[in-house]
Amino acid sequence: MKFFVDTANIEEIREANALGVLAGVTTNPSLVAKENISFHDRLKEITNEVDGSVSAEVISEDAEGMVNEGKDLAAIAPNITVKVPMTLEGLKAVKQFSEMNIKTNVTLIFSANQALLAARAGATYVSPFIGRLDDIGQDGMNLVSQIAEIFDLHGIETEIIAASVRHPVHVTDAASHGAHIATVPLKVLKQLVKHPLTDAGIEKFLADWKKQN
Ligand code: E4P
Repeated sequence: MKFFVDTANIEEIREANALGVLAGVTTNPSLVAKENISFHDRLKEITNEVDGSVSAEVISEDAEGMVNEGKDLAAIAPNITVKVPMTLEGLKAVKQFSEMNIKTNVTLIFSANQALLAARAGATYVSPFIGRLDDIGQDGMNLVSQIAEIFDLHGIETEIIAASVRHPVHVTDAASHGAHIATVPLKVLKQLVKHPLTDAGIEKFLADWKKQN
């Protein structure tokens, strides 16, 4: 499983990229709204920083508007992936993007049927939202398993991005349940590094070293 960082903040993206594990970035309108910069300018900054897929979401609700917006976004850099919401209009747009060889990430996936439809329309990625399912008392990780099983059974190459990741256990579970990618907030990415026994081990090694030197 690969790591994407889920943020539109350029400092956070640089910090994540410096760790050497970053395979891409996802943004969404809520994340972009927190930043005081034009969306296009920020996407230019991000694509200059990161070689992997950078998801940029359309806000139109009709297929024609999504396609027009997506074409503009895709023209910013070759590694832009157009993020499209899981709707009837979104599916039509995904089909058209796929014919134009523009990569897509179908977002707000909450069922295996939605993921299957998105894949069949030609999506490059599907994003099941784990945390938001957990929030309403459903099992987000079970959805990742179901999608992985269905894609595997039917030889579907669309990649699964585990999204709405809230904590390190989500990351381990996403990897073991078959997600190809987890898109995680920087805070969670940094939490993955930490273990109290690692910290205690470093402290002990340094203390022992200092006794002899
Ligand atoms: C993914 O692409 C989304 O931007 C994101 O993971 C949503 O997460 P949230 O449910 O924490 O807003």
